[in-house]
Amino acid sequence: MSHMPKITFAKPPAAVEDGILVVFVDDRLEAGPAARAVLEPAAGLIARAAAAARFKGKLAATLDVLAPAGLAAERLIVVGLGAAELKPADLLKLGGKVMARLPAAAKEVTVVLERPGGEFTPADIAEFALGLTLRAYAFDRYKTKKKDEDEEEGPSRARVTLACADDGAAKKAWRAREPVANGVILARDLVNEPPNVLHPPEFAHRAEALTKLGVEVEVLDPKAMRKLGMNALLGVAQGSQHEARLVVMRWKGTQGEGKQNESKPVAFVGKGVTFDSGGISIKPAASMEEMKGDMAGAACVVGLMHALAARKAKVDAVGVIGLVENMPDAEAQRPGDIVKSMSGQTIEIINTDAEGRLVLADALWYVKDRFKPAAIIDLATLTGAILVALGHEHAGLFANDDTLADRLLAAGLATGERLWRMPLGSDYDKLIDSKFADMKNTGGRNAGSITAAQFLQRFVDGTPWAHLDIAGTGMGAPASDINKSWGPGWGVRLLDRLIADVYEEK
Ligand code: BES
Ligand code: MN
Ligand code: ZN
Repeated sequence: MSHMPKITFAKPPAAVEDGILVVFVDDRLEAGPAARAVLEPAAGLIARAAAAARFKGKLAATLDVLAPAGLAAERLIVVGLGAAELKPADLLKLGGKVMARLPAAAKEVTVVLERPGGEFTPADIAEFALGLTLRAYAFDRYKTKKKDEDEEEGPSRARVTLACADDGAAKKAWRAREPVANGVILARDLVNEPPNVLHPPEFAHRAEALTKLGVEVEVLDPKAMRKLGMNALLGVAQGSQHEARLVVMRWKGTQGEGKQNESKPVAFVGKGVTFDSGGISIKPAASMEEMKGDMAGAACVVGLMHALAARKAKVDAVGVIGLVENMPDAEAQRPGDIVKSMSGQTIEIINTDAEGRLVLADALWYVKDRFKPAAIIDLATLTGAILVALGHEHAGLFANDDTLADRLLAAGLATGERLWRMPLGSDYDKLIDSKFADMKNTGGRNAGSITAAQFLQRFVDGTPWAHLDIAGTGMGAPASDINKSWGPGWGVRLLDRLIADVYEEK
C-alpha cells in the first residue's frame, strides 16, 4: 500500500524545526496549551493571518500560513474546530481535511492534536488518523508515468506525527482502528480494479488472502454450485469466459468453547458481478465501463472480513460473495428462460440485466440453509432506481426486521455511511409473480428498487434480514473529505460499527 501516510505518535514538541505544523483553534481562535507553546515565538500570528483571510475557526475550515514569521516550520496550517462538541464523525472529517490541505511535496508533518479546552480522547485521535489515511488513498496502479511528480501522489508519502499528551494510548487506539482503514482500502482497490483483471476467479483468489489473518475461506467452483442447485447464479455466468465462484469466508472471533460458540453467526452477503454488460438485454454504451463496479457489495464484504479478522473482533461472522460476469454470448441466458434456484423456486428471466438478484437468490439461500444465521445483511449495487431515489447520499435499506433496521440506521448516522429505509409489502411482492414460473426477475417500471428487494426476500425464508442497495453509494462516489477515489469502499465502516455495537462480545 504505497498510499499510506506514515503515522507516528509523540508528545507535543517544544518547537517544530522544519516541515509543516498543524494546530487547531476554536471559533474564538483559541488554541490549546501545547500549540500555544509551539507558537510562542510567533505571537499574534494566527490572529493577523485569520483577519486577513477572514478565517473564523469554523469546524473544518483551514488557514494556510506559508513561511510563518518567527517559526522554523515551512508552513503552518490552522484548522478550525468551531464551537460545538465534536463527534467521532467530526474527527474523521478533520483528518481528511488536514490530509487534503497538505501540499504534494509534504515530507514531515506535525499535528498538535489537542482541543483548546483539553485533550482529545485516544478514540478521537484514532478517528482523525483514519480520516487522514482514507483521504490519502489514490488508485494509480495502472498509471505508468512518473508517480513522484504527480500532484495526486504527494502528501500520502508524508510522515505525519500526531502529537498528543497520551501518545501511548493514542497509538494503541490507532492499532485497533487501522484494520478498518485497511479493510476500506482493500474494498476500494477491488472496486477500482478493471474488469479484465478482476474477473471472478481472480476476485476469489484475492479473498483467499484473508486466510493469512485467520479467516476460513472456501471457494466453490461451478461444479460444486451445480451440485447444490445454484442455477439462478450459474445462469448469469453462462455467457462469460470466466467461471463463476462463490466464496465463503468465516471469522470465528468468539472466545472459548460452550455457549458463545453455539450462538448463531451474523452473515454478510455481497453481489459480486465483476462486470455487468446487461447480458443479452445489453446496456447502452454510455458509462458501461462503470459496471466494473458492480461488485461493490462483494468488495465491502471482503473488506469487512479483513477488518474484523485484523482487529480480532469478538464476533462470529460469515461472509458470502457470489462472483459472476454478466456477458452476452451464444451461450448466454435469454429473456424467457426459466431457471430453478437452489431454494427450489423457479424464476422466469424477463431481463438479463436484472442479474444481481439472481446471484443473490442462491447466495442468500445457501447462507441461511448452511449457517442458520442470527441475521443476514446483503449489499448489492442492485438497481439504477435507487440512484434516482436517493442519489449518492444514502443507500437504500430494506428489512423484514425493525430492530435490525434501526440498528443499521444508527450505525449509519454514527459513521456517516447513511441509510434511508424503504418499504416492503405484499402489494409490491405481487408485481414479481410470473405467468410461467414462481416469479419473474423484474417487476416493471415502477418501484424498481422495491420489487428487487421483494425478490430477494423470497430467498431468506424469514431469517432476520436487511438489504442495502448501494448502487448510488458503492461506486462512482463524488469526492468527499475522506475519499477521492471512484470506489469509496462504502459500507466497511458502517458494518464494522454495527458489529461493534450489536454483535461483538464486550
Ligand atoms: N448493476 C445494475 C444496477 C446499477 C445501475 C448499479 C447503475 C450501479 C449503477 C443492475 O444489475 C441492473 O442492471 N439493474 C437494472 C434492473 C432492471 C433491468 C430491472 C436497472 O437498474 O436498470
Ligand atoms: Mn444488470
Ligand atoms: Zn448488475
